[in-house]
Amino acid sequence: MAKLGYPFTLGVASGEPLPDGVILWTRLAPDPLNPSKPGGMPTQTFTVSWQLAEDDAFTKIVQSGTAPAQPDWAHSVHVRVAGLRPATDYFYRFKLDSHTSAVGRTRTAPDPQSTAPVHFGFVSCQRYEHGFFTAYKHLAAERPDVIFHLGDYIYEYGKPAHPQPGRWVRPLESNAECTTLGAYRNRYARYKMDADLQAAHAAAPWLVIPDDHEVRDNYRGLLPGDGSSPAVFLKRRTAAYKAYYEHMPLRQRPTGHNLQIYRWRPYGKSVDFILADTRQYRDGHDMLGPDQEHWLLGRLKSSASRWKVLAQAVFFAPRKFPLEPPSTDAWDGYPESRARVLAAAPDGLVVLTGDVHNNWACELERGVEFVGTSVTSMPGTTDASAILALNPHIKFFDGHRGYVSCVVDTQEFRADYRVVDFVDRAGAPVRTVAGFRVADGHLQRTDV
Ligand SMILES: [Fe+2]
Repeated sequence: MAKLGYPFTLGVASGEPLPDGVILWTRLAPDPLNPSKPGGMPTQTFTVSWQLAEDDAFTKIVQSGTAPAQPDWAHSVHVRVAGLRPATDYFYRFKLDSHTSAVGRTRTAPDPQSTAPVHFGFVSCQRYEHGFFTAYKHLAAERPDVIFHLGDYIYEYGKPAHPQPGRWVRPLESNAECTTLGAYRNRYARYKMDADLQAAHAAAPWLVIPDDHEVRDNYRGLLPGDGSSPAVFLKRRTAAYKAYYEHMPLRQRPTGHNLQIYRWRPYGKSVDFILADTRQYRDGHDMLGPDQEHWLLGRLKSSASRWKVLAQAVFFAPRKFPLEPPSTDAWDGYPESRARVLAAAPDGLVVLTGDVHNNWACELERGVEFVGTSVTSMPGTTDASAILALNPHIKFFDGHRGYVSCVVDTQEFRADYRVVDFVDRAGAPVRTVAGFRVADGHLQRTDV
């Protein structure tokens, strides 16, 4: 058999941090965009070795082992590491034949009694064609404890017939819309070849949830969103969820068209992270579906941490618009679901949101919501001053690209909106456009 070319072209990642373990990820892809063979790999299983160390020179290796990279799963590798110490940095790398991957840094979650501050970033919406992932380079430099991705990691779209000016900054390798497993795989590969995205994955463990564009624009539950055949759509959803798992440091594989997304990650006495799935179980009147809602309300009620962070994809606060009706692709379309969440919400609820490609900050009936802007995806037109005037509970708007950086302890929740001034070329510096702390359920500016 011919020797493989360098197989770690898509970088490394870690995720799903627990006090004693993480998931390590890579995927073998010597020819990542090969149109017919995923990753350019032969259709056989390979055995990849991995090492986890206390230092990035790997002089103090604490664990090592091997893991299969199977053709059925696009030669992705998911290593479940256990037996680690809480709130500790570790470094990891993979080897195959004479090839060695980049080194990733990961970090376990704190133990349940910890009162130490937790530093995390959250991002969403990274349409590759729209620009450079410079925000990730800056987020990676912060080396947070954990990074949240709130959806639209890829966009399934093909190339528009007439791209708008400034919205075709980086070409895709395939100009066709993704509908098949092979196409979704190559779209992830295209994104994951980006150096800034690889740096952010190598800087910290991630906790990820998909939104709609990992599958199809505005899909909802079992329905494609455009009135086309649900049976055809279900095959597409199955392929899309499979490709998502193959490219993310997740703990659980999908089974058919089901992917277990909603989950809970405690980070000591400071914060409980509750990750919700606002797409897969949605129907005409219910955002979460009965099983997830029951679970979520129970988690909110039983959480003993100072902050209960609900990480989810779509706008939670009510919004009135000057001209249009309220958005139905947001919690405004599901007011009864939202009322039940708020009724269960204890003191210390903080909702994190993506989806809308702009920064917003809102006060809720109980708690607050931080809406983070896109990494690159361009926003639609927004009459922000009219929306702020019509919605006094919405306190802040900003229209840059970027990410949100948060530091949380048992007293305080602080969020800084970090932005770049351009994404149509590389190299933008980062700055904090606004900072907030949460005080008695209200938002206070910290930067003015
Ligand atoms: Fe988006």
